[in-house]
This record gives sequence, structure tokens and C-alpha cells, in this order.
Amino acid sequence: MTAARPVVVLAEELSPATVEALGPDFQIIQSDGTDRPRLKQDLAEADALMVRSATTVDAEILAAAPRLKIVARAGVGLDNVDIPASTEAGVMVVNAPTSNITSAAELTCAHILGLSRHVVPASAALKGGEWKRSKYTGVELQGKTLGVIGLGRIGGLVAERMKAFGMEIIAYDPYVTSARAHQLGAQLVTLNELYAAADVITIHMPKTPETLGMLNREAFSAMRDTALVVNVARGGLIDEDDLAVALDEGAIGGAAVDVFSSEPATDLAFFAHENVVVTPHLGASTAEAQEKAGVAVARSVRLALAGELVPDA
Ligand code: MLT
Repeated sequence: MTAARPVVVLAEELSPATVEALGPDFQIIQSDGTDRPRLKQDLAEADALMVRSATTVDAEILAAAPRLKIVARAGVGLDNVDIPASTEAGVMVVNAPTSNITSAAELTCAHILGLSRHVVPASAALKGGEWKRSKYTGVELQGKTLGVIGLGRIGGLVAERMKAFGMEIIAYDPYVTSARAHQLGAQLVTLNELYAAADVITIHMPKTPETLGMLNREAFSAMRDTALVVNVARGGLIDEDDLAVALDEGAIGGAAVDVFSSEPATDLAFFAHENVVVTPHLGASTAEAQEKAGVAVARSVRLALAGELVPDA
């Protein structure tokens, strides 16, 4: 009699490379992390659970998986996995912290360029039969100031890339030294200095109790009324009601938002503004990032289920 293969539950669609990297030694169950009853059922015999950002892994989900040894997050953020509850349940949690930083930085740059030249609304208008050149007059980035809130891995890549467009880079990050900022071509400033001076503001902070709603009414009112605000980091960093008010009142010039406090999000009040561009949490959605994330966590799953040491990804 052959021993049953360990069960790996994929709660979201992961890249083909992920499944390939797992190899033939596992029974793979494709589940749906947004359908909690189904996920709980699929976890009954699971040894490993692999997720992206749409699956909330909390005590209730863990309780449905008595054999679970590892939760693997194919991506950077771990805010959808309850770490204390996992530790309590004796379940290891791994992620792929550098897998999608280039993709997230590139989408941020795309949004900065798109906002400054009205690419999305101008395209929508033209497809709707309107040829309006002066309405969509933009601004050059050359000589403008980019304020980066959070100069970590992704913020640093954004700073380096936007420097190539001739932007002056200022940054707020209490954990980064001036020497490191200097290396990235950025000058460290306080948050209020950043709000006052930046033409474009991009946030790259983790989601924590301290950063939740960080870009709120008070922050928007401290910004320039032409400021363009970009969030490709985490939903909830921007207070979405306050953003709608700031846009209504003309406190800022526009916004590009990829992540939302509750996802999927399809009808938030601020979506109505023409100078707002939204994308459905696409920061990590490139072939390359998905391959890197999937392969890295598949390797961790293999090692963990073989009882071997799982090194930092
Ligand atoms: C991440 O934290 O790496 C991304 O949000 C992953 C994803 O797109 O699911």
C-alpha cells in the first residue's frame, strides 16, 4: 500500500510554475479562499495552505485544518494571515518578501506617469468619441518633487526609477538612515515637510494599527492642492471617505489607488472623480512576480513538509 501524499490546498489561483515547483509528491486541491465554508471543507486533510492576498487566514480557518503545518503566502504582505493564531496552532507561516517588489514599484511608476498625463481618462474619452486635447493637458515630472512615504524595498525602487525622470526625491521613513536615503538619491524629511513640498506622494508602508488611515483628512489638507497621491501598498493606508472629501473639495489634484480597505472594491465614492485611476490590486500581478513568489513558497512548502529547515526566502 502506498502512503497517502501530503495535501496542499491552493486557496487562490497561483502561477503554473508554483504547481510545477511543488512537483508530483503532493495531492493538490484547488480551493477558493473567498468562499470560507468551501475553504474550511477543503482544509480538513490539508498539510499546507498556499494563499495570495484575498484569503483571510484566521483562527477559525486554522481550526478547520487540524493537520496543517504551514501557511505559505505567495507575496510580500502578511496582513491577511493571523500570525499569533498560527503560532498558537503550531503552524509555520512563510512568505516571499522580495518576489514582487519590482512589479509593485513598476506599477507605482506607471500610475505616477499615467496621472500626470491623464492617460486613463483621455483614453476613455477618446474611445467614447471625444477628441479633447486641451482638457487633458498634463504636467511634466522633470523638476517636480516626489514624496515617498516608506523608503523600504519598494519605496527605494520607486525613488531610483523616478529619479531617472528628473524628479527631486524626498522621503519620510523613521527606520531609514540619511546615508541609505542618500544612496537612493533621496533626502529624508518629516511627514509635514513631505506633505507641504511634494507634487506627487506615494506611500509604501506596511498595514499596521499605526499606519491604518494614515492618509486622512488632516494629511490631505496639509498637501498641495495639486498633489497626486498614489497607493500601491496596502488597502486601509488611505482613509477612503476622507479621500472622497479631499477630491470633492479640491484639497488634492488626483489619486491612483491599487489596494482598498476591503477587497474586492467596485463602487467606492472616490471612484466617481475623473482624476482618480483605480486598478484591482495589480501590484504583484505580473508573470515574473507570480512565478518568483510561487516558486519561492513552493520550495518552503516542500522543505517544511519534509521536516527540513526552511531558510528565509
Ligand atoms: C503582496 O503582498 O505581495 C501582494 O499583495 C500579493 C498579491 O497580489 O496577492
